[in-house]
Amino acid sequence: MENKDIKTVLVLVAMEAEALPLVNILDLKEDVPPRIAPPAPAVSYTGEKHGITIHVVRNGKCQLHGVDNVGTVPAAVTAYLAVHEFKPDLVISVGTAGGFKARGAAIGDVFLATAFANHDRRIPIPGFDKYGIWRIDAVPAPKLRDALSLKEGVVSSGNSLDYSKEDWDQLHANEAAVKEMEAAGISWVAHLHNVPFLALKSITDIVDGDRPPQEEFLENLHAAAQALQRVIAPVLEFVAGKSTKDL
Ligand code: ADE
Repeated sequence: MENKDIKTVLVLVAMEAEALPLVNILDLKEDVPPRIAPPAPAVSYTGEKHGITIHVVRNGKCQLHGVDNVGTVPAAVTAYLAVHEFKPDLVISVGTAGGFKARGAAIGDVFLATAFANHDRRIPIPGFDKYGIWRIDAVPAPKLRDALSLKEGVVSSGNSLDYSKEDWDQLHANEAAVKEMEAAGISWVAHLHNVPFLALKSITDIVDGDRPPQEEFLENLHAAAQALQRVIAPVLEFVAGKSTKDL
């Protein structure tokens, strides 16, 4: 892992509703002409704050269905293209997620990731089994966690808002505090490029609660996006100019 001073930060976000409050609070401008060329649907926004360059990149909309491109595949493609275009010193995946109350999560909390894993890649062949789960540590950021009073835990990714019995078992094996749909894919891209990687996830729904996730998600999306809006500027101010070993 490189320990360069942080001068360029790439913030990756799946949904427009999650990205726009960040773009507004950071006073970023959409890159026109696009810095990530079509047919990639990603949309990028750039600006300077706290003496560093910040890029927020969202995955854009699905041409066929008109909704945001969510899930690990668009997340990894966007991450790959954005890392090449913006050459960041730090990548942060920011978005909403389900949280486990058994691991201290409540709606509106913002979690800092300690590690990333998959819970829906089941390949019961020696070697491929561990590859499927993947699991890699986030760059340690205990000072950032304490400075912003963030909760922390393992972020586990899959391509469904709900979960099967097999997903549930792997979520527990992963010791997941947070369940979402992008971070593990991005962690693979960050690892390929040797770029430090963090994630901040705001909780919209309780995975080990009794309500359907889609109901809670839609109810709490706005509040969770506002929670991310509140933490993003202090997080960027904290990391600006520091070496990753001082996070
Ligand atoms: N995003 C928000 N809530 C989620 C959940 N329960 N699972 C996956 N992604 C989510």
